[in-house]
Amino acid sequence: MTASRDWDAASYDRVSDPQLGWAREQLERLSLRGDEVVLDAGCGSGRVTALLIDLVPQGRVYAVDVAPSMVDHAAAALGDRVTALCQDLVELSLPEPVDAVFSNATFHWIHDHDALFAALHRTLKPGGQLVAQCGGRGNIDAFRTLADDIAGEEPFAPYFTDWKRPWNYATDVETAGRLKAAGFSDVRCWLEPKSVTPADPRAFIQTVCLVRHLDPLPEELRDPFVDRVLKRSGEPFVLDYVRLNMTARMGGG
Ligand SMILES: C[S@@+](CC[C@H](N)C(=O)[O-])C[C@H]1O[C@@H](n2cnc3c(N)ncnc32)[C@H](O)[C@@H]1O
Repeated sequence: MTASRDWDAASYDRVSDPQLGWAREQLERLSLRGDEVVLDAGCGSGRVTALLIDLVPQGRVYAVDVAPSMVDHAAAALGDRVTALCQDLVELSLPEPVDAVFSNATFHWIHDHDALFAALHRTLKPGGQLVAQCGGRGNIDAFRTLADDIAGEEPFAPYFTDWKRPWNYATDVETAGRLKAAGFSDVRCWLEPKSVTPADPRAFIQTVCLVRHLDPLPEELRDPFVDRVLKRSGEPFVLDYVRLNMTARMGGG
């Protein structure tokens, strides 16, 4: 069975205020004149891409995502202000090199960070910048342990026998090493705790945190799985996010 990589883009667009907030903070770290070519790596439904577009009024933005529904949503929302492409970032191929790569809440969904960073490095112009944030080591640990426990319980367990955890929560130190190995310079990586209390916990975890847990389950067991996770999460419902920040430059500029 090929693992699904799609998302519910309309629902993600509604629930992703926390991601949008993190992205706003990160955009402050991009240094842009306004005429650059930039890439939003893992653009999702396009809410963050819209902020990026505003920063380069004389430039161009590529929005890339592996999930077809996300690319369609971003393209419909952003129109000709963006070139939206459905690609796996590990095999990224753009029509031209870019001045900056921006990415929010995406890299932890990719297992092979060496291949990812090599692909981003190939995409950048000499001296180009990388500003990214994703989940880092320790991210939603308590929630993940609970979801794993419930995946091992009846009636869900038989559906998880071949299931692979979707995330790669790297440390700041190993990420800095990988970025340098890929050829980046001026590398800075750090972890940052960020607790989130979603406005609608059910919609948020169904759409984001449990998106790949729900794949192997038949339709009639999806709500009961989410119900059990919510019931055992306790109140108030808080997700202990830990973000991994990274900034770097393509050497040679
Ligand atoms: C949590 S969403 C973040 C979307 C957006 N950057 C934001 O901040 O709202 C994660 C996104 O990463 C995308 N993604 C996961 N693996 C990917 C890959 N290998 N290549 C491209 N996109 C990927 C997913 O399809 C999803 O749209």
